[in-house]
Amino acid sequence: MNENVAMPLSRLANLDPMSDVPSLEALHALNPPQQPTYAQVELLEATLAQLRSLPPLVFAGECDNLRLKLAQAAAGEAFILQGGDCAETFAAVTASSIRGRLRVLLSMAVVLTYAAEVPVVKIGRMAGQFAKPRSALTETRGDVTLPAYRGDAVNGYEFTSQSRTADPRRLLQVYNASAATLNLVRAFTKGGFADLRSMHSWNADFVRTAHVSTRYEQLTAEIDRALAFMIACGVDDASFRTVDFYASHEALLIDYEHAMTRIDSRTARPYNVGGHLLWIGDRTRQLDGAHVELLRRLRNPVGIKVGPSADPAEVVRLADRIDPDHEPGRLTIISRMGCGKVRQALPPIIQQMQATGRKVCWVCDPMHGNTFSSANGYKTRSFADVTAEVDGFFDVHAELGTWPGGIHVELTGDDVTECVGGVAELREEDLAYRYETVCDPRLNRTQSLELAFMVADRLSTMERRATPVFTGPDF
Ligand code: PEP
Ligand code: CO
Repeated sequence: MNENVAMPLSRLANLDPMSDVPSLEALHALNPPQQPTYAQVELLEATLAQLRSLPPLVFAGECDNLRLKLAQAAAGEAFILQGGDCAETFAAVTASSIRGRLRVLLSMAVVLTYAAEVPVVKIGRMAGQFAKPRSALTETRGDVTLPAYRGDAVNGYEFTSQSRTADPRRLLQVYNASAATLNLVRAFTKGGFADLRSMHSWNADFVRTAHVSTRYEQLTAEIDRALAFMIACGVDDASFRTVDFYASHEALLIDYEHAMTRIDSRTARPYNVGGHLLWIGDRTRQLDGAHVELLRRLRNPVGIKVGPSADPAEVVRLADRIDPDHEPGRLTIISRMGCGKVRQALPPIIQQMQATGRKVCWVCDPMHGNTFSSANGYKTRSFADVTAEVDGFFDVHAELGTWPGGIHVELTGDDVTECVGGVAELREEDLAYRYETVCDPRLNRTQSLELAFMVADRLSTMERRATPVFTGPDF
């Protein structure tokens, strides 16, 4: 058996008095928000028992490696690119959808690495991002009111009573869908698809006239020349052909996240083996709540989303709870303030955190604070607002002398029409053309690359430039 394979917690918990992971009952006693109510309790228990016996999706050692890379981002030596769907769906667990998302993330990462000369830590909102917090518990259409869609992990998107009923068997589907996704992602990132020499083909079907595609083609040609030069010099490194890629999701469903926790056989410490990095959402980050209580016991790197209502002292208390040892790479603060608030709301949080002496990763989510309804009834975001928040984030860090550690974006590899603006000047009237998201509006491929070029421009003109450091390969 692989040394790294972690043991199911349920079997070890009684034998290992050192394990301080709270029981599922103890977590539920804290009344976690945003949890489904299941009618079939026995089916839920049987499903969780099965989940506890299944092999890990990710390895504890990979989580440790990611923590080391995040420590570099916290120290200003690397930049984090985290992106993917708002809500993954089981229907989109297809080769073409996964390849599409991966290809846009890899393209963005190359833009950032080459244009800004910083190592990029690549993290997908993928292979586990199937559960959503919702502002309203129900949805009404005409005179019919049904439970809100909470993500494929909980219920179906279809607006029928049967589909909207929470079904515990979906948790097993989450496991299987995540396993299938990770399997393909591992094959793509290690098996040739990510080879820098094939980066032309990632976006070969781009609209030729777009400014973004021209810039991307120029970059591709430059990288080709640089690679040819390296190879002529006798350097042909495996890192030209493979990339390290990590999986992340919001740790929302306490039942699932608890069932995916294992004691690592190497270190006898608990890890969630359902994803490398887990984050706590803006709605579930209560200091004494179940989400914080569970995640603070795990050795995975942890993210916390903070919105404009966050009290800086509260964010510090959260950091004290989750990262009491000031461990570099342990904590990533993902701010999602909105373009109009970032300049006021972010600085006090950074300043109070700096005063604790710990180094956290500062990541900008320019999506969740910038959502609005279009006149024709679509939930959308404006590309200009997204870039304005990113600009505000960079300006704040420049003023405070801190490192803007990364971006967190909702995107897809498909040419959808969900966010307005961008180089194609998508208008509200265009949204109906390909509006496919089941939750929040995502940047399409062109908008994602355009954002990458904008971020690369900001990074490359910064005074405090990171010194690239070599990091060894893993997943
Ligand atoms: C999300 O990332 O999809 C999300 C719900 O974000 P937040 O918790 O920041 O609202
Ligand atoms: Co979202």
